[in-house]
Amino acid sequence: MNMLYFGDNLEVLKERIAPQSVDLIYLDPPFNSKATYNILYRTPVGADAQRKAFEDTWRWEDGAESAMEAIRQADVAIFRVLQALQGFLGQSDLMAYLAMMSVRLIELRRVLKPTGSLYLHCDPTASHYLKIVLDSIFGASNFRNEIIWLRSRNPKGSQHASRKFSPSTDTILYYAASSATPFYDDAIRARLSPQELLEKYDREDEYGPYVDGPILRSPGMGERPNLVYEYEGFTPPPYGWRVELLRLKEIDAAGNLAWSKSGAPRRKLRPEDDRGGPVGSFWGDIPPINSQAEERIGYPTQKPLALLKRIIAASSRPGDVVLDPFCGCGTAVHAAELLDRRWIGIDVTYLAIQVIEDRIKSWLPSATYVVEGIPKDEFAARKLAALDPHVFQQWAVGRVGGQSRGRGPDKGVDGEIAFITGPGRYGRAIVSVKGGKHVGPDPVRVLKSVVDREQADMGVFICLNDPTPDMRTEAALGGRIQLPAGERARIQIVTARDLIEGPNLGILTELNTVTATQAARAEQRKKPSKRPSPEDLRREPPLPPMSLGGGRAKDQPPLPLDEPILVRPPTEARRQRARRG
Ligand SMILES: C[S@@+](CC[C@H](N)C(=O)[O-])C[C@H]1O[C@@H](n2cnc3c(N)ncnc32)[C@H](O)[C@@H]1O
Repeated sequence: MNMLYFGDNLEVLKERIAPQSVDLIYLDPPFNSKATYNILYRTPVGADAQRKAFEDTWRWEDGAESAMEAIRQADVAIFRVLQALQGFLGQSDLMAYLAMMSVRLIELRRVLKPTGSLYLHCDPTASHYLKIVLDSIFGASNFRNEIIWLRSRNPKGSQHASRKFSPSTDTILYYAASSATPFYDDAIRARLSPQELLEKYDREDEYGPYVDGPILRSPGMGERPNLVYEYEGFTPPPYGWRVELLRLKEIDAAGNLAWSKSGAPRRKLRPEDDRGGPVGSFWGDIPPINSQAEERIGYPTQKPLALLKRIIAASSRPGDVVLDPFCGCGTAVHAAELLDRRWIGIDVTYLAIQVIEDRIKSWLPSATYVVEGIPKDEFAARKLAALDPHVFQQWAVGRVGGQSRGRGPDKGVDGEIAFITGPGRYGRAIVSVKGGKHVGPDPVRVLKSVVDREQADMGVFICLNDPTPDMRTEAALGGRIQLPAGERARIQIVTARDLIEGPNLGILTELNTVTATQAARAEQRKKPSKRPSPEDLRREPPLPPMSLGGGRAKDQPPLPLDEPILVRPPTEARRQRARRG
């Protein structure tokens, strides 16, 4: 069964993926580029609001030390290599990145079949270090290629004088699990265009166009006594014919054997038999996704389907299992499904899982898969908070339509929401998540001061249980604010139950994924009374739901804004074009 996991890939790999169960791994981890990737949403007035999707920064204090310890326990030889790197790099962000990657690559080696392949997509920032790490994990003899992908034909210039060439390529390191790993080069031959075929096959006879090719082995190919035989009065030198007698007769009968004036045999090669050339390790023929590309989803760092299709075709067969542990908006998953492979995708960003689900719904409606890791009830939400606070934070912030901050010092900000206040206008809310069992009024007070400090419009405090009266009082002291759904508390408290039901903050975000059904269920549970209870005050009236890219819920009034541009529903023609690649 195809699987989509929400969570940190290290945990998912350890707990959910069996040893030697995967044929092909493609991974495209954040590059340590220190960039913060944004997702773009288009508004009707043409302004673009940028949303942070994930932070591409690794820090030593975020767990690199424990990653090093895990590596030491897993494999001392690999640990020594990393120690040597650490001697040079110190406790830098780059070293933190390498430690985090290594511990994951060790797990990936565990799940890879002995005939499996791994492709690590990175860039020159760290590719040279990653190659050392990969050599230590998979063995230098299993290194197969450093593929250079031309990801930009028009590298960005700078207004300022630059002291280097503009970076325009990515690096893909290809390793085999062992020498038994197959490579299906026939599946990825570079076919010639009709024009190139015309130019190459420039001679013609009664059977059509052809080009001269050899039928005799060259001296460099060595002697082959079994291929030395007489045909039509001609006996070749000791290195022999290229084919056995039976095949030679077939070639001749098909009109594909010719004799030169001096009596030497030649083979006539025909365009219909042209298998194309082998693909080299420089990939300049797969364009990046431009702003007009049909497959463009808007997820930062989205890779082209053609790139993933080539990798998957070269290193797997239909029915094989393809794993992408940093699956982003699901390009590998999409390509694997198109090529009839089974697939496993993992991502730690809730937004990524939403985008992939939407992508599958729009482009691959017949695909079957199971999503794991996303809490479906309050119990599961509490369990997630206890087991993995960071992933709980990712999920909780995603549920309120925000983007989570990465790991590391958060200065009281676990996430942010950009909400719509009018055409092309956005408000900002700070999100604070407390996944502990006992939470009092103090963190609510802290959130209030962070909202003031950050000059944000409102604050959202997420906790597991119903707020205590003290917490409610503290939130109420934060004042009121006018929102699209009416006047609301400036500091709102959201519980695990709210997160499951579909939180209603009284704001509109493009990422608000509350479904109509969830809203209807929440509506039924509401018991109207004359005097509002504290519970009623806390919950406030529901806002019409909106779904991510999948069209508007039935009872939702039209919004004065475009739908998000995350996934454009494909036409049948687009679907077929994507399938053909
Ligand atoms: C460069 S993007 C992948 C893009 C992808 N190849 C595509 O075409 O859409 C890297 C992804 O890794 C995810 N990620 C980062 N750390 C992760 C972790 N520890 N576990 C799982 N996913 C992670 C990020 O959320 C992000 O979506």
